Amino acid sequence: MAKTDIFNSVPDLKYSEERPKTNSDEFEKVIEARRSIRLYTAEPVPPEIVEKCLDIALKAPNSSNLQQWQFYWIQNQEKRKAITEACFNQPAAKTAAELIVAVARTDTWKKHAEQMLEAFKDQPIEVPKSAVEYYKKLCPIVYNQGPLGLFGVLKKIGFYITGLTRPIVREPTNQADMRVWAHKSTALACENLMLAFSAYGYDTCPMEGYDSKRVKSILGLPKKAEICMIVSAGKRDVKGVYGPRVRFPREQFIFKV
Ligand SMILES: Cc1cc2nc3c(=O)[nH]c(=O)nc-3n(C[C@H](O)[C@H](O)[C@H](O)COP(=O)(O)O)c2cc1C
Repeated sequence: MAKTDIFNSVPDLKYSEERPKTNSDEFEKVIEARRSIRLYTAEPVPPEIVEKCLDIALKAPNSSNLQQWQFYWIQNQEKRKAITEACFNQPAAKTAAELIVAVARTDTWKKHAEQMLEAFKDQPIEVPKSAVEYYKKLCPIVYNQGPLGLFGVLKKIGFYITGLTRPIVREPTNQADMRVWAHKSTALACENLMLAFSAYGYDTCPMEGYDSKRVKSILGLPKKAEICMIVSAGKRDVKGVYGPRVRFPREQFIFKV
């Protein structure tokens, strides 16, 4: 099978799945209810709700299903105090019942590709050869940048030359691309997390106002782990929303081309 077959051929699978019924009105309510909350009441969030929301976060779509995210639900009070300080004691962190640090990993792809191959063994259907080849052969080429990023440079040259005559995936060819790659999927999971809290009647605030070096050190994270955002959660105080939602005209962002 050619390398691109995984993209352009429909595998002959003995599997089908009916679409579950969904309710757009309820979904819209969940979306509208989510606001960035800067002040919470002292009301706790039941741990089982946090667990459920974290499980929903993990259902987010993610690149190559390599699940390049981690979520650190802060339980230790010393760590909590230190992270709140690293968030400059902003009330969205200080008054929150819970803090969850979302971490994007550029360094777990290899282990996770192997884990995918293992997971294939437990599938109730026969996994197409192209999918096995993808994790076995293509992933080590796509996500590996090599020592000092040299393999990435070679890939960039190769992609440029190949791209002169046919469409080709151009990234990732360096650590910056890997960071974008990991943050994209992690941010999607963060949105799932916040919408889940919203659906359960709780509030959140995504934060990037923190000292990332300090947060990494508090959590004992390695160099290639990146703080994507910190999500605080709790019950909003009546003064928790700082104003009506502001969005610029849709024409500025939506283009029918
Ligand atoms: C990645 C990201 C980082 C953010 N960082 C902060 C932050 O550090 N502190 C804060 O109060 N709000 C923060 N926000 C919230 C935004 O200010 C907020 O989403 C925006 O003003 C729109 O308001 P809304 O979320 O209520 O619709 C952040 C949002 C995102 C997506």
